[in-house]
Amino acid sequence: MNRREALHIMAAMPASLVPASLVPASLVPASFVPGDWPARQPAPDSFAFPPDFKFGFSTSAYQIEGAVAEDGRSPGIWDVFCHTGHHIKNGANADTACDHYHRMPEDVALIAGAGVRNYRFSVSWSRLYPELNGPANAKGFAFYDRLLDELHNQGIAPWLCLYHWDLPQYLQAQGGWTNRDTAYRLAEFTDRVSRHFGARIGHYMVFNEIAVHAMLGHGLGFHAPGLTGADNWMSALHHMNLGQGLAVQALRANVPAARIGTVASVEPVRPSTPAPADVKAAMLLDAMWNGAVLDPLFLGRYPHLVADDFARWCRDGDLATCRQKIDLLGINYYNRLHIQHDPKYALDLFFGPDNDPARYHAMNIPMAPDGLYQTVMHVHRRYDGPEIFISENGFATVQDGKPGSGLEDDGRLAYLGANLQFLQKAVAAGANVSGYFVWSLLDNFEWDAGTKFRFGLVAVDFTTFRRTPKQSYDWYGALVRGHAAAQALQSA
Ligand code: FCB
Repeated sequence: MNRREALHIMAAMPASLVPASLVPASLVPASFVPGDWPARQPAPDSFAFPPDFKFGFSTSAYQIEGAVAEDGRSPGIWDVFCHTGHHIKNGANADTACDHYHRMPEDVALIAGAGVRNYRFSVSWSRLYPELNGPANAKGFAFYDRLLDELHNQGIAPWLCLYHWDLPQYLQAQGGWTNRDTAYRLAEFTDRVSRHFGARIGHYMVFNEIAVHAMLGHGLGFHAPGLTGADNWMSALHHMNLGQGLAVQALRANVPAARIGTVASVEPVRPSTPAPADVKAAMLLDAMWNGAVLDPLFLGRYPHLVADDFARWCRDGDLATCRQKIDLLGINYYNRLHIQHDPKYALDLFFGPDNDPARYHAMNIPMAPDGLYQTVMHVHRRYDGPEIFISENGFATVQDGKPGSGLEDDGRLAYLGANLQFLQKAVAAGANVSGYFVWSLLDNFEWDAGTKFRFGLVAVDFTTFRRTPKQSYDWYGALVRGHAAAQALQSA
């Protein structure tokens, strides 16, 4: 197949598969020069988002809390994964992580210090319910109650994510997400947690990234619980979709005044080469990463390409449960994915090289801020204009002493700035985007990468736990404050 034929095939692909090179030049901001932008630092006052646009920070329980055996918490799948085998870079674990459990007020002060008024965090299931069929752990709930008090005192709105990948080990012992029962367990957990916190929380998000947890944790085994194979990948994915639908129903019943949604990783998928096998692999991954999560939720069906494969796990009525009206969708966007045919892995596909001359950040991922525009517009068009917020977007550095790797993280703020420019473009094109949350407040435990990759706008010394804001923290703070000031002027 020659390049022209390949482009023909791509023209018939879902929007999320369309290469960036086909995005009309008129949609690319003038200040963006591909390949050149990391040297630029968009001034914090060069943005203009809608007046009620919300800026925030995102974190997750397992990545920051530590205190894994304190106050009654029992192990989750990540504790087990870290302490068995050699899964984590440099043998790291999250036993203490950022020690946020003991330093929470300092961290909330850092959010406030940047002028940020929205904070997305998750709760640790095994801290709240340490035993199978056991009672609530009062000390676990007390920790999050204190967090809510602290946020409230600092004028920061809490955005709670119920499940960010840390299933209790007692549920994994029963099959975890490959067991349909876990969907009902999530609904029960959501019911109890939302009864406890009720209207103190204005935004409830059910999941973080079903697609990633299904693929990396259950299909490829790089993440906890370390399962592999297409069957584990697909069954886990379907049961999470089902659990999500049930959890949304529980939230609607318990917190009718709250805004209810979920968070998905949505990213354009491209074949590494135009070879038919790679194109096929990319289409399949697009169906599994994007379509198999968003189609059931918004359209009540699986994408054609994989619908028959999911039929094994999908019982009558399941798709009606998966399909829920949500108030807003969180999109986590990091990069564009390049996929190639590779029979060594589940579904015969794996991540492949990006042949664009893009710059790479520390996780060896091509930086592609224009992909955020494509992603948002794809969701906007395919699902009929749902309200969207960017729930994660971030940039990793390795602290290797090289310029930009430490506190002078100008590459990070250039990257975030470029993403925000493309987001602004999507808003101008009519997408219903209401917020942007940076990943992440703190350098933290980056799953299988341990503490090698640092995403924080605030540096953490993992020996002393000292927090030091980076250049990007000041830049983001200036942007957020500037937005708030412009808003105040407008409403004056
Ligand atoms: C996302 C995860 C988040 C963090 C970032 C870098 O996929 O949701 O926890 O690890 O990647």
